[in-house]
Amino acid sequence: MSDDDFQPLEPTLQNVLDQKTLQWIFVGGKGGVGKTTTSCSLAVQMAMARESVLLISTDPAHNLSDAFGQKFSKTPTLVNSFNNLYCMEIDPTGSIQEMLENSEGGAMNSIMQDLAFAIPGVDEAMGFAEVMKLIKNMEYSVIIFDTAPTGHTLRFLSFPTVLEKALSKVSQLSGRFGPMMQQMSGIMGVNADQEDMFAKLESMREVINEVNTQFQDPNKTTFVCVCIPEFLSLYETERLIQELTADDIDTHNIVVNQLLFPPKNSTCEQCIVRQKMQQKYLSQIHDLYEDFHVVLLPLLTNEVRGVENLKKFSKMLVEPFSKTN
Ligand SMILES: Nc1ncnc2c1ncn2[C@@H]1O[C@H](COP(=O)(O)OP(=O)(O)O)[C@@H](O)[C@H]1O
Ligand SMILES: [Mg+2]
Ligand SMILES: [Zn+2]
Repeated sequence: MSDDDFQPLEPTLQNVLDQKTLQWIFVGGKGGVGKTTTSCSLAVQMAMARESVLLISTDPAHNLSDAFGQKFSKTPTLVNSFNNLYCMEIDPTGSIQEMLENSEGGAMNSIMQDLAFAIPGVDEAMGFAEVMKLIKNMEYSVIIFDTAPTGHTLRFLSFPTVLEKALSKVSQLSGRFGPMMQQMSGIMGVNADQEDMFAKLESMREVINEVNTQFQDPNKTTFVCVCIPEFLSLYETERLIQELTADDIDTHNIVVNQLLFPPKNSTCEQCIVRQKMQQKYLSQIHDLYEDFHVVLLPLLTNEVRGVENLKKFSKMLVEPFSKTN
């Protein structure tokens, strides 16, 4: 195909709204580029196109509450002025900690403590499994994740292995406590606890396996990359896309946020120079990602906070923003 024939893909997220089979949408990128703003905006648009939408933040620095100006928690809460858009903020760690706090102590406690120490990520895997189990049964039309920018973006892909390790560790550890447990069983119900623990870990592993299969199905899941037109962000985005590709997660949308559009006759040197730099990186993005929808979002003079601002901002995900606007 010659350059003349090349038709760039539509520069909007309309394709995501139109893909009715989608059940899971991940929004990711480095900190501060506009993930939360983008995921909230996408959720707002999705709410107009689907029966029900759940937006989940897995970022410990929770900012859905800040963006919408409403307090959210770890249970889905309706967003003010919507009747089908829900938000929840989950803590990626703390699952085991919580179990320990709520239990009455004893042998199981020490097993759990050992488990948390012995297997990195088990806390997080269990927390994620619990949340997935919960929301899987809630029947939202689509679930959007505002992902945390730390480390490996797709940590959940390693969770089945982590929980597998946990299962074998629990049997190993309970072997050590075996004699003591037999003595105590009946009195304290320790054996029942242990079986509970096995059953719990096993069902967690099943849930995670099941959702991971869905996450790797491009009909059900896609990942929206957010970046800003700067060298470091481009570099990170390329790494992210390679990671996603290696892990079989579909991605075909890049949101480029914080673009400067100074007025045509602007004389502000700083804006003009900066815009030039942005345009350079923007054209690199277009060259590198011909098979992606590249969505451009302008840098506003104000933060994008509150339902009304998000509603207004979200329109730019579906109506291309251009210099002529
Ligand atoms: N295009 C934009 N114009 C103006 N402010 C923006 C824009 N995008 C994001 N912001 C603001 O920048 C801050 C960081 O954005 P946010 O979406 O929270 O980033 P992230 O979730 O990637 O850390 C927020 O205060 C947000 O309101
Ligand atoms: Mg955020
Ligand atoms: Zn300026």
